[in-house]
Amino acid sequence: MANEHLILSQVGIAFPTPNGPFTALENVNLKIEKGEFVSLIGHSGCGKSTVLNIVAGLYQATTGGVILDGKEVDEPGPDRAVVFQNHSLLPWLTARENVELAVKQVFKKSKSKAEMAEWVEHNLSLVHMEHAMHKRPDEISGGMKQRVGIARALAMEPKVLLMDEPFGALDALTRAHMQDSLIEIQARLNNTVIMITHDVDEAVLLSDRIVMMTNGPAATIGEILKVELPRPRNRVELANDPQYNHYRAEVLKFLYERQRHTEQKEPVESKKQDETNVTPIGKETVRAA
Ligand SMILES: Nc1ncnc2c1ncn2[C@@H]1O[C@H](COP(=O)(O)OP(=O)(O)OP(=O)(O)O)[C@@H](O)[C@H]1O
Ligand SMILES: [Mg+2]
Repeated sequence: MANEHLILSQVGIAFPTPNGPFTALENVNLKIEKGEFVSLIGHSGCGKSTVLNIVAGLYQATTGGVILDGKEVDEPGPDRAVVFQNHSLLPWLTARENVELAVKQVFKKSKSKAEMAEWVEHNLSLVHMEHAMHKRPDEISGGMKQRVGIARALAMEPKVLLMDEPFGALDALTRAHMQDSLIEIQARLNNTVIMITHDVDEAVLLSDRIVMMTNGPAATIGEILKVELPRPRNRVELANDPQYNHYRAEVLKFLYERQRHTEQKEPVESKKQDETNVTPIGKETVRAA
């Protein structure tokens, strides 16, 4: 069944803290279809990364659970690749070797050496990194490192690509390039994607649905916005598209009217600083990257 691909059912989590358990998430319910691109947006500290980590199998939900293609998720696995904001490449390996390591992990038994080598190069070329594949992370730019991280994730052929603010640390121009390549790759491969972002424009541009989370503690899904803009989407054309601007306004209204950030009552240890920041003109981000 198309709509039974990835299910988050009654997901809740309480973290132990010195002041007692801290309920970060409660009753998170979401069904994601195969090939769907879903963004998670919400104020800092509401629980977006926690949701992603539960789907990744890195955190165990205290209540409820996650089901991927009929199987409960209870540990990390190559069917769910994660791209973190701060690219997590091994510094002593070249771009190529970083991707190769992941490929070997997944395809050691099913692909020959030559097939694996070709697959590594193919994925580096998807993110336009074939020219720099013999460089180490300290020899390439932040955007390039992020591209290698994405190539590594894609090369594992995950059912689900989990991205936690993948472009958050990049400058605006590189970010736009990366968004465009992600749109292109996803259109080609039809991966299911869950991406956390603080960037309202990024969410509207990339997503089929935008999942907007309420503030914590006990955060949950507040609203879900279906983005029905035809694909391929063109950022320049969309800037003046009334429908695009309507979606954008809906997200901003949710964040700044319905979920205006108030000081959270939570244990000091787990308190995060909210850096909520809206630029008056142009591009809005929930938090400055
Ligand atoms: N391991 C942990 N132990 C205790 N509390 C935690 C833990 N991980 C997260 N939290 C708390 O759970 C809440 C949600 O955190 P999370 O990192 O998921 O937020 P977020 O929405 O990703 O924020 P940001 O946008 O700043 O990345 C926060 O209050 C955080 O302090
Ligand atoms: Mg986070």
